Amino acid sequence: MKNLKAGIIGFGTVGTGVYKVLQSFKEIEIKKIAVKNINKKRNIEGFNQNLLTDNAEEIVNNPEIDVVVEVAGGINPAFDLLKTAIKNGKHIITANKELLAKKGEELFRLAKEKNVVILYEAAVAGGIPIIMPIKTILSANKITKIAAILNGTTNYILTKMHEQGLSYEVALKQAQELGYAETDPTGDVEGFDAAYKISVLSTISFNQRVSIDKIYREGITKIKPQDIKSAKELGYRIKLIAMGQVLENGKIDVRVHPMLVSKKHLLAKIDNATNSIMLTGYPVGDLIFTGAGAGAEPTASSVVGDILVLASELEASDKPLPQTICHHDKNAVQIEIGDTYNEYYISINASNNPGAIGIIGTICGRNNINISTIMQNGIKEDNTAEIVVITEISKESDIQKALKEMLESDCIKNIDNLLRVMN
Ligand SMILES: NC(=O)c1ccc[n+]([C@@H]2O[C@H](COP(=O)([O-])OP(=O)(O)OC[C@H]3O[C@@H](n4cnc5c(N)ncnc54)[C@H](OP(=O)(O)O)[C@@H]3O)[C@@H](O)[C@H]2O)c1
Repeated sequence: MKNLKAGIIGFGTVGTGVYKVLQSFKEIEIKKIAVKNINKKRNIEGFNQNLLTDNAEEIVNNPEIDVVVEVAGGINPAFDLLKTAIKNGKHIITANKELLAKKGEELFRLAKEKNVVILYEAAVAGGIPIIMPIKTILSANKITKIAAILNGTTNYILTKMHEQGLSYEVALKQAQELGYAETDPTGDVEGFDAAYKISVLSTISFNQRVSIDKIYREGITKIKPQDIKSAKELGYRIKLIAMGQVLENGKIDVRVHPMLVSKKHLLAKIDNATNSIMLTGYPVGDLIFTGAGAGAEPTASSVVGDILVLASELEASDKPLPQTICHHDKNAVQIEIGDTYNEYYISINASNNPGAIGIIGTICGRNNINISTIMQNGIKEDNTAEIVVITEISKESDIQKALKEMLESDCIKNIDNLLRVMN
């Protein structure tokens, strides 16, 4: 393995994990660690405070440093810092999915120009090896489908809602108290984090650049205990699913939203903060990768793994293996949510009138929607009833049209929820 000199930007959860794991690898020398607040107390035994700087420019412009490990997060100043590092001929290791999703194209283009690599195993599903397997040992495959649980916070919240019948709000509060959710949970619960990850994952899986701006995204905040109860009765678990598929016409369907997942499906069994990724490819068939999607140590496993891969490649030659260089020049043609086909769960609040179910059936029929299950959950005090419909595969735009028509009918009071279903 080649001896490398590394500069680390960020010394929080991931940065400290990386520092600790690197202590066992004497070939990798940490030259400097950049932080925001140099006066913050760092409780690390034997840590040399002189390694710290609050000026990351000292890392990206240091001619002695071969590799910059960016584990600070966010777009600014990470983007400008990494551009400078690449221009200065440094290799990059990053865990920053937001940066890759929003600015990856520019960074990878620059890296190619400067003959350096950007490795990012930790950016998708923390400790699970998924990027490198796709780029190396799975490269004989044409990957056509991904279905994944890529956000531990939302999976934890949904697990508690299922297991303990908690409301979303109470489950979120518990997750925050236990450190599974941040004080501002928006990035996780609204699906942004999972969308960044699926944009990266689908880009490398489908060999086309998937734009984060065209990924349909819905979070978990509208899931109610009633939905969890109905899902259970019908044999499903609700999960936040990040999915991507290549359609027969070559277009790409990538999205993040909660789904009713059949209890028989492997992803339905992934609970708490665990992440899991199912891939379908030819010739390999179906694969599933499961493990810790976050946390200091699992994430450090991926970051340090990338550093060691780079060190052993650079030992063999000055040029890293082609697998680690990005080749995506083609932009994917991504379809809109209205053009997707799914089975649906529709929760409808209707007046307790004779004929309500008939009206729902007629409207569905008029819009090319076949119903596979219909269930009424008793009568409420206000003389309305919750009617749950599961459809056969239907076009999203037909579903949206049907829901609009239902709301125009006197006996339908509200569409309480619309979720997609995965069997
Ligand atoms: N946490 C995980 O399990 C996990 C898993 C996979 C990927 N990631 C990704 O890894 C990255 C880091 O996450 P994290 O959880 O470790 O974050 P974190 O605990 O909040 O740590 C962020 C670190 O960056 C430093 N920092 C912030 N702005 C800086 C600047 N302008 N210059 C230099 N340093 C700066 C902070 O300095 P101070 O210490 O002085 O505040 C802190 O040390 C993010 O991109 C995240 O998405 C995290």
